[in-house]
Amino acid sequence: MELITLSSVSFAYPDGTRALTDVNLSIMSGERVALLGANGAGKSTVFQMFNGLLMPAKGVVSFKGRPVEKAYLKEVRRRIGMVFQDPDDQLFSGTVRQEIAYGLTNLGMAKDRMEQAVSWALQAAELAGYEDRSPFNLSGGEKKRVALAGVLAMQPEVLVLDEPTAALDPLGAAKIIKLLNAINRQLGITVVFATHDVDAVPLLADRVYVMDRGEIKLSGSTEEVFARKDLIRAYNLRLPRVAHLAELLEREGICRFPALPLTIGGARAELVKKIGGRY
Ligand SMILES: Nc1ncnc2c1ncn2[C@@H]1O[C@H](COP(=O)(O)OP(=O)(O)O)[C@@H](O)[C@H]1O
Ligand SMILES: [Mg+2]
Repeated sequence: MELITLSSVSFAYPDGTRALTDVNLSIMSGERVALLGANGAGKSTVFQMFNGLLMPAKGVVSFKGRPVEKAYLKEVRRRIGMVFQDPDDQLFSGTVRQEIAYGLTNLGMAKDRMEQAVSWALQAAELAGYEDRSPFNLSGGEKKRVALAGVLAMQPEVLVLDEPTAALDPLGAAKIIKLLNAINRQLGITVVFATHDVDAVPLLADRVYVMDRGEIKLSGSTEEVFARKDLIRAYNLRLPRVAHLAELLEREGICRFPALPLTIGGARAELVKKIGGRY
């Protein structure tokens, strides 16, 4: 089922900055989709279109086949869980428990059901034991997981995350990637994320849209997109590091790969096939 669709969407900010030109994209239920682009490409603007924070000047944004308009906003915002780039923009409660319960209180949920939903979300975001901590005294990675738990507690169909790995240390980034994959696989929640972190994309996306200067320039499976090396570089991105290494080894005639490996796991499997046991 098509969840989110942008059809020929164009948009300029009030100061005249042209942010999106003729953007077409669709997100299917259950997918993991990356919106990949350098800073200023238009990723956050696209995300604000999803739930009607911004409305297109031209074109149509739909959720489950119905245009996102005023009368539909409440429903859409309930179904699409947004995790902002900077958790400090999202967090404001005194404790982690209050933070996660906030959205549910607004829905008027009964107390015992709410407690259940909160403890479920705490588990899902691996935050058990953090209930009484202040969100403001947590690390960047922990804050991100609290914001995620607050959104998850509302049981969204889609999680939309703006730069989920930005400003996190390596362990924090790996943890959020692992969590999001588990949420997608185990709960069937669709995951859409914006990033310029090319190393994170193969670990967290089945499909990629590449944006540059307000346009979608390239789309396809993660493998298809990173196979277009010259285009990736033309849009001020780069290959994942392991793919770059494989490219160098090929260029130097040391090793050929049927397809450039994008992850350490993929490279390892290829190398074991080629040189396993000969060391
Ligand atoms: N509130 C705003 N007013 C004017 N221009 C903006 C505003 N927000 C973003 N822009 C501009 O719109 C373009 C796309 O920005 P954005 O969607 O934030 O890109 P990304 O998220 O890919 O970094 C950029 O040129 C940016 O400077
Ligand atoms: Mg952005």
